[in-house]
Amino acid sequence: MVSAMLNGAIAITCPKGLGFPGFNLHCRPIHRPSLVSVATRCSVSASRPSAQPRFIQHKKEAYWFYRFLSIGYDHFLNPPHFTEDMRDEALEAVDLSHPDMRVVDVGGGTGFTTLGIVKTVNAKNVTILDQSPHQLAKAKQKEALKECKILQGDAEDLPFPTDYADRYVSAGSIEYWPDPQRGIREAYRVLKMGGKACIIGPVYPTLRLSRFFADVWMLFPKEEEYIDWFTKAGFKDVQVKRIGPKWYRGVRRHGLIIGCSVTGTKPASGDSPLRIGPKEEDIEKPVNNRFAFLGRFLLGTLAAAWFMLVTVYMWIKDKIVPKDQPI
Ligand SMILES: C[S@@+](CC[C@H](N)C(=O)[O-])C[C@H]1O[C@@H](n2cnc3c(N)ncnc32)[C@H](O)[C@@H]1O
Repeated sequence: MVSAMLNGAIAITCPKGLGFPGFNLHCRPIHRPSLVSVATRCSVSASRPSAQPRFIQHKKEAYWFYRFLSIGYDHFLNPPHFTEDMRDEALEAVDLSHPDMRVVDVGGGTGFTTLGIVKTVNAKNVTILDQSPHQLAKAKQKEALKECKILQGDAEDLPFPTDYADRYVSAGSIEYWPDPQRGIREAYRVLKMGGKACIIGPVYPTLRLSRFFADVWMLFPKEEEYIDWFTKAGFKDVQVKRIGPKWYRGVRRHGLIIGCSVTGTKPASGDSPLRIGPKEEDIEKPVNNRFAFLGRFLLGTLAAAWFMLVTVYMWIKDKIVPKDQPI
């Protein structure tokens, strides 16, 4: 796993004021010797051991999940996990300082992260892509996004040419991709030389009960996995920045639905050096067994509810426990 941290300096950075007790990966940069470029290889799609069924880490299930979630997404469901402060802090790492940059926001949903992007980048240069028409319908209603291009599409098979964008951003979407390596390889392909990718996503819990629910719901990658996928896709200068809601006070053992921002730079123009097999899941394909589908969908959705309870629990704890004591 860590053996794949092949190229250049890989750094883990923490936001100011967050200590994240109990983790070995502290806020020190980890420097790796610069080695030759990533070996060309064939990737097998993300394996899903039966102990980690991740019922919603599928395109069809995610489609239906967001068919319903899109209704309360901006008002109730997203704010407890991904605040504006977290978003802006996460985006800092990808340097969106120039208004003329061409930016793609993949899995852009209702446009919450895009609203952070268009603070500095001209909305005309920003494309929001998502597989859910219901999420995109919400983005279309937002005044600040009315000049953005809005596209329905798949993160694992982007409808952009190679060397197209200056920045690739994807927030809170990787956890639904059946083959995250494929999506990150696409991020590499569509970027111009020197372009930067930023994937904001969950982190795996260390607490056993949360691990159980995480594995039933969707993909909660470990930080090393993000680094591994970025490095294999060909990115250099891969960095992980830890983020989290303020009321968690840096506690990460329960896992975080949004817990880190991972960035990397494309060092050369052209396609990724990583060779990969055919795409496994296509949203257009009909469901074979509707009962199995419904079962997976319901179990995955129930497991997701655990993380709503966790955030309420942390919020109450933050109110009760004195600020100078750990929670
Ligand atoms: C948690 S929402 C994040 C939305 C937005 N980026 C934000 O920051 O609020 C996850 C989004 O990823 C989208 N998604 C899931 N799988 C996808 C895929 N394979 N291709 C494109 N979008 C996908 C979902 O439809 C959903 O809108």
